[in-house]
Amino acid sequence: MRTPLVAGNWKMNGSRETIKELINGVVEGAKVLNGIDIAVCPSAIHIADVTEVTAGSNVAVGSQHACIELKGAFTGETSIDMIKEFGCQYAIVGHSERRTIYGETDEMVAKKFAVVKKTGMIPIFCIGETLEEREANITEKVCAHQIDVVFALEGDNAFEGAVIAYEPVWAIGTGKTASPEQAQAVHAFIRQHIAERNADIAEKVQILYGGSMNPMNAKELMDQKDIDGGLIGGASLKHEDFLVICQAAQVSI
Ligand code: 13P
Repeated sequence: MRTPLVAGNWKMNGSRETIKELINGVVEGAKVLNGIDIAVCPSAIHIADVTEVTAGSNVAVGSQHACIELKGAFTGETSIDMIKEFGCQYAIVGHSERRTIYGETDEMVAKKFAVVKKTGMIPIFCIGETLEEREANITEKVCAHQIDVVFALEGDNAFEGAVIAYEPVWAIGTGKTASPEQAQAVHAFIRQHIAERNADIAEKVQILYGGSMNPMNAKELMDQKDIDGGLIGGASLKHEDFLVICQAAQVSI
């Protein structure tokens, strides 16, 4: 049985003050939760404030982004070692906002995935199709390709110790959630695709759903066999909502 993971992606939101309130609320509420993994991914500049509060708690911290290079003349970037030094265990790679707005290609994302793993952190590897791709019936092909680029770089065991987040681009921040059946079908496909390389890793890898998951729809989604939690954007910005989603993960076990 896989342990569910609920991870909040706070994106570029909050001030030092509101982020402190948010993380204090999450840590406090998470005290009564068990049997699930919980993580929050603040903006890089808020990571130090957040890890100060999460230290010794059951809430892990992740970065939303990391530089593809390890160090050197890369103005404005943050290295994965810097992120690790500040207490992060996870790093999101390949979020669709990074792919579409900042032009990160499948190859760049795969290289970042490798850098995160090499540092001993857990990549949360995001994949998913656009609306046009779904309408053209190529969702599986798109997801398979995004995964295969990582296999090509890292070999058949690439997803050992990694997390995958299926985030249909059309569902992110739109209020349009994939139905539990739609999401389950893609999650099952992803697991099967990984099983073709390594059945044991496929059975163990956590596959999260992301895209307008909220306190109302979380349970139905997480009740699906191959949905092992969520990567939550908007609804993770209120600790009460985030904690309801965590509770849904707990009862889905
Ligand atoms: P929303 O939950 O706001 O749709 O965002 C999902 C997401 O992008 C998480 O990474």
